[in-house]
This record gives sequence, structure tokens and C-alpha cells, in this order.
Amino acid sequence: MDKMLNIALPKGRLGEKVYAMFAEAGFPCPQILENSRKLIFENPEAGVRYFWVKPSDVAIYVERGAADVGVAGKDILLEYRPEVYELLDMKCGACRMAVAAPKGYQDDRIRTLRVATKFTEIAKDYYASLGRDIELIHLNGSIELAPILGLSDVIVDIVETGTTLKENNLEVISTIVPITARLIANRASYKFRKREIMKLQEGLSALVSAE
Ligand code: PRP
Repeated sequence: MDKMLNIALPKGRLGEKVYAMFAEAGFPCPQILENSRKLIFENPEAGVRYFWVKPSDVAIYVERGAADVGVAGKDILLEYRPEVYELLDMKCGACRMAVAAPKGYQDDRIRTLRVATKFTEIAKDYYASLGRDIELIHLNGSIELAPILGLSDVIVDIVETGTTLKENNLEVISTIVPITARLIANRASYKFRKREIMKLQEGLSALVSAE
């Protein structure tokens, strides 16, 4: 078995914050802070190997065992339902999944609602819970454009500061679910590397509750 614990971190600002928490919890790898294009960093003394992954891909690495643990947004966990253990709410990367529409939008409940989103499963579940018929339009980015150009009536997307909506004359109609980053573990790793993973989980948990 690989002696090092493989950890998938979400590339970007959130990942840097998360790494600082992992280091403080006893899993440091100072090299990772060097500004480079490298994607993998090891610290054999601390028994860790970190890699930077596109945030929406972290759950795939962990589900398939390429990483033992990782940090993924609750949005990704709700959308893709990967078979992983969710160990801890890291209480960072906070945002919300929301329905938004052009300012002053009036819903006509008789018509099928056209919903543009990257998060089709979340949107489907949400409108099913309301008993509302929708037509889903799957987009990969710049979702805010869809209602402006008449491609959809509303969007389901992540809202953090609200700036993107505001600058495009859109507003939140309803919040579907609050989102934060979660520590996740591969199911087999959690069984076979329980001691290290629990040490990490407990260390991070202490930091999160101290904040
Ligand atoms: C998300 C989301 C919005 C934006 C909201 O995109 O899709 O466009 O952030 O943030 P705000 O409320 O602070 O303006 P993200 O940057 O995650 O990347 P994406 O365009 O690939 O979805």
C-alpha cells in the first residue's frame, strides 16, 4: 500500500485556505506554497501527497480511490452523489444554490418553466419537490446569460457575493440550499487507513469549531 495519504485539494483560493487548515492539523507540505505550475507535492516525513484538482473533479478522484481524501463543495456532492463518506463541514467556501431571474420577473405557473443550469440534478429535485414542470437546459458556464437572451426563464446557479447577478440585472427568487466545502473520504481508504484519516478529521474538526 502507498505509504502516503493522497489528498485532493480544490485548485484556487479555497484550496489554499483548505491547505493551511490541513497543515495546521498536522499534515504540512510547505513546498505546496511555492508558486509553480506543479500539480503534485509530497512530504514523506508527514506522510502526505497533495494534488491540485479542478474543484468539480475532486469527488471523482476520491470516489475512485486516486485520492484517499479531498475537499469538495456540497453543490458537487448533491449534484453527482459520489459514493464517498462526507466527514466534516469545513465551514468555508460558503455560498448558496439559488434560483435567479431578471429583475421584476413574474412566474406564470401555467407554463412549463425553462431552467438553465450546470446543476441539472439539483434543479430537477428542487422543482419536483414543488410539483412544478420544467424544461432543463444544461449549460457549462456563464449561466447568467440564458435569461437575458431569452434562452431560459430562470437559472439555478451558485451565488456567493451576488455581484454576478447584480451586474447582469438578475435577482435571487429563492434559495435552494446553503453550500460549504466538505471533507470527503474514499470508502475503502476510510476502512484501511482509518487511523490517519481520523487524525486528520479530528484535527480539522478542532480547527473548524475553534473558528
Ligand atoms: C460561480 C457562479 C456565478 C458566480 C457567483 O461561478 O456560477 O457565476 O460564481 O459569484 P458571485 O455571487 O460572488 O458573483 P464560478 O466562479 O464558480 O465559476 P463558473 O463560471 O465556472 O461557474
